[in-house]
Amino acid sequence: MEIIVGESIVLPCQVASDPVLDVSFSWAFNGQLIAKGDGHFELVGGRTAGDLMIRNIQLYHAGKYICVVDTDVESLSAVAVLIVKGPPGPPDSVTVEEVTDSTAQLAWSPGRDNGSPITSYLIQTRTFFTVGWQRVNTVPELIVGNTLTATVVDLNAWVEYDFRVLAKNSVGVGEPSPVSVKTRTEDAAPGDVGGGGGSRSELVITWEPVPEELQNGESFGYIIAFRAFGEVSWTHVATSAPGASRYVYRNDSIAPFSPFHVKVGTYNSKGQGPFSPVVTIYSAETEPSGTPAGVWARSVSASEIEVNWQALPFSPERVLGYEVVYWEDDTKPETMGKVRVPWNQTSVTVSGLAADTQYFLTVSAFNTAGTGPFLPAINVTTKKPPPAQPPLNVEWTLIGFQLSLYWEPVVATESESEVTGYQLSYRRQRHKEVNTLTTANSTAELTLPEEDGDYVIHIQALSEGGLGPASDPIRVHQLSMSARGSRAWSAYVSPVCLLIAIAISTFGSTS
Ligand SMILES: *[C@@H]1O[C@H](CO)[C@@H](O)[C@H](O)[C@H]1NC(C)=O
Ligand SMILES: *[C@@H]1O[C@H](CO)[C@@H](O)[C@H](O)[C@H]1NC(C)=O
Ligand SMILES: *[C@@H]1O[C@H](CO)[C@@H](O)[C@H](O)[C@H]1NC(C)=O
Ligand SMILES: *[C@@H]1O[C@H](CO)[C@@H](O)[C@H](O)[C@H]1NC(C)=O
Repeated sequence: MEIIVGESIVLPCQVASDPVLDVSFSWAFNGQLIAKGDGHFELVGGRTAGDLMIRNIQLYHAGKYICVVDTDVESLSAVAVLIVKGPPGPPDSVTVEEVTDSTAQLAWSPGRDNGSPITSYLIQTRTFFTVGWQRVNTVPELIVGNTLTATVVDLNAWVEYDFRVLAKNSVGVGEPSPVSVKTRTEDAAPGDVGGGGGSRSELVITWEPVPEELQNGESFGYIIAFRAFGEVSWTHVATSAPGASRYVYRNDSIAPFSPFHVKVGTYNSKGQGPFSPVVTIYSAETEPSGTPAGVWARSVSASEIEVNWQALPFSPERVLGYEVVYWEDDTKPETMGKVRVPWNQTSVTVSGLAADTQYFLTVSAFNTAGTGPFLPAINVTTKKPPPAQPPLNVEWTLIGFQLSLYWEPVVATESESEVTGYQLSYRRQRHKEVNTLTTANSTAELTLPEEDGDYVIHIQALSEGGLGPASDPIRVHQLSMSARGSRAWSAYVSPVCLLIAIAISTFGSTS
């Protein structure tokens, strides 16, 4: 039989016998007679039964049980083997093998599995600052021979930790291992070392400062170490500002855009802390010396100018992109706007401009050092604004699926762009998808989809200056084919159209 620690069990032992015989039962466990009065064992049952009850069973109750039945004439026995399963025993020999500022690698040996295989381990930590034991995050365990290891992650720098390990099997989580020796994580190195850019002859180095709670001592500061590629020895600079996150090294002998190895470390009154990993940072570059050629521009609406140029064919300096600078009044170049685009783009549309206004603009290449020389400015005048008047008095007829619309032409004033046509936008009510259609004069034909539904239509004048304001929405109800029956036409009905509808209807019934 199998049983789990803490449960109770009855081992049955029953006989059938002649009633004149005196029957007595006794039990042996692993060869020892079970004495009465043990807190766990009790003989239950009557004259013909000698059942043994074991309460609150313990792991040490596993083994061989023999029930012996004695009468005056003979002695009989029966054997039962009892298996007791429990949570795993405590793991042992927990050691901390490798420590960084945020991780610790633990190793331990497994304890007994107590009848059911160990399925996983839990690692717990405790620090001076926490109440009780807490579960930690680990990367998965590895088994090396009879030793298990796991790396605990997300620890804080320069904190003393206790660790312990618990094993788990199908029965439950066992007792914790003995506590490891106290282990302090490493000091934190400054993170995220980077830099670059700056002005001529500069090497700019930046880093994430170490938080105050991890500075661990008086007189905290940073040590910045750097060397040009190909050099052997490091140049060290110390700064005493604990909040510093940037250092600029200036030396006229630094070549533009040349690579350096850089690392940043810490120190305090107790000594020097760890260095960050070494990174490569480039010294300041010089701005591009060439100018883009073939700059031309045209106004594409009342508020937009499209600018085009040719990429710099070859540049000794790095080109990160191009900058278009524009301003309204050549006597006030400080009213300037700017747009930047990446190096592989050779045109941009400047938007948000005033209508019917002369703009001056020029283009240059840029990199982290700044912009190169600008070409002489060219000038472009934006288009006049689109007509302020929306299309008025829109009328429509619907014959079959064919919708015809007509409206009063929009006439531009002197200060507005000429009307070149109209744009219709239509969509089904409660649908997002908008369809558009352009027409040269103030009429339009539209074939609606053969689906039941309400359609909403807007009309706007088109001009060089852009789209004018929209007409009031026009709402059309379209009947589906099935709702129409066999007659493939119907016409409804702004008052003006009614006559047409009647005329067609009359024609239809007489033919
Ligand atoms: C500038 O750099 C050169 C060459 O690395 C070095 O000899 C010189 O001492 C540096 N000067 C300063 C002010 O750091
Ligand atoms: C420019 O380069 C970026 C990535 O480097 C790319 O995603 C983009 O499509 C390119 N643009 C053009 C106009 O080639
Ligand atoms: C604008 O550009 C034209 C040539 O495209 C030039 O003749 C004219 O002088 C420019 N106007 C101003 C104010 O610079
Ligand atoms: C509008 O244009 C259409 C075709 O483009 C033409 O059939 C129609 O006669 C024009 N209407 C007016 C009023 O000019």
